[in-house]
Amino acid sequence: MANLLITGGAGYIGSHTCLALLQMGHSLVVIDDFSNGSVDAIRAVARLAGLQQRSRSASGQARHHQWHWQQGGQHLTLLEGDIRLAADLQLAFEDQAIDAVLHFAGLKAVAESVAKPLDYWNVNVAGSRQVLEVMADNHCRTFVFSSSATVYGMAERVPIAETSPVQPINPYGQTKAAVEQMLRDLAASSGPAEPGWRIACLRYFNPVGAHESGAIGEDPDGVPSNLLPLICQVASGQRPALQVYGSDWATPDGTGVRDYIHVMDLAEGHGAAVETLLAEPPQLLTLNLGSGRGHSVLQMVQAFEHTNGTSVPYELCSRRAGDSAVSVADPSVARSRLGWQTSRDLATICRDAWRWHQQNPSGYAQ
Ligand code: NAD
Ligand code: UD1
Repeated sequence: MANLLITGGAGYIGSHTCLALLQMGHSLVVIDDFSNGSVDAIRAVARLAGLQQRSRSASGQARHHQWHWQQGGQHLTLLEGDIRLAADLQLAFEDQAIDAVLHFAGLKAVAESVAKPLDYWNVNVAGSRQVLEVMADNHCRTFVFSSSATVYGMAERVPIAETSPVQPINPYGQTKAAVEQMLRDLAASSGPAEPGWRIACLRYFNPVGAHESGAIGEDPDGVPSNLLPLICQVASGQRPALQVYGSDWATPDGTGVRDYIHVMDLAEGHGAAVETLLAEPPQLLTLNLGSGRGHSVLQMVQAFEHTNGTSVPYELCSRRAGDSAVSVADPSVARSRLGWQTSRDLATICRDAWRWHQQNPSGYAQ
């Protein structure tokens, strides 16, 4: 079993991945500055994994709060810290050797990245560089990176293969592409005297849903911009209707088609990726994580209504800037390299998203 560092583990995808990794038997150190994550997410993860809280402590500075859970030889530590600060990251390497880092911490809102590009280059690119530098200082060279299908921009061919051109169309996508380039440079840097890096760039399609318990899920800050959280808010009466962005796309019903992937399938994909890296010689893997199936906005609305017995009123509106008609993964490389594929269907996605929302209508804030 491995000792893994999870940056951004108190966020949406990171928390679900923490649970999957604990259930696979690994021990974890999580670092998060809570800018968009919650201690409650990790508390729930520890509970679901059957760990007991051992202690909570604070160092001189407030940002160095720490929480510890344990069960038998397995442990989970949560550190409050900023990935841009070497001293914060170094805390994670202090008490034990870290075998691999899964790097989720970052900023992810496309519109915000257009308004505040420097924040995105700072956290996503400079932050990733800092993580890699502290890893190298500590002789840890196994790294799983949260990339995004957004690096493909407006892909010309669907399903999208990893060989499709990288041509992001917004600053968020540019920062993901820049980190991928940094990782290719790093993978190529090892010589006879330098042990090689083991790296996986995982390009997620559209992560949705929540753990089946309803105890962890997506907790958007302010008004959500992604489809599933908005459908949940409409279904629960928090907003009057879903605005469907475009009904004149070149798709069967005119609405946008996406490859929605259940967040627990995504989490298990990370488990498969890190175990593959640790078991194999140094290499760089670039993999799509998606289901390979596309669903339109109206199909999502209908599936949600049918699965949950709810009503989701909607209105057809004009297209949203920067959207494309279809984005669907070719997931065959991940299947063959990791022995992983999605197993949760659209009904499971809709049921789990709705259970999380109903149990936590205000997210972790209540
Ligand atoms: P999230 O915002 O829920 O999680 C990110 C976590 O990182 C949060 O807990 C936040 O507090 C933390 N964080 C941010 N800046 C930090 C810093 N400077 N230091 C320490 N912690 C910091 O986002 P998510 O949806 O879980 O996404 C995780 C990763 O996956 C991101 O890198 C994102 O770009 C990528 N990704 C997400 C999606 C998606 O649809 N959610 C799609 C593709 C890629
Ligand atoms: C968006 C981001 C993408 C990011 C991904 C996951 C843009 C242009 N792209 O992808 O970079 O990786 O989120 O965070 O922002 N829709 C509606 N009404 C709504 C919301 C969405 O009709 O109120 C439609 C969209 O037009 C799209 C589909 O639903 O066809 C999915 O939208 P969304 O969940 O925002 O994801 P993406 O746009 O695919």
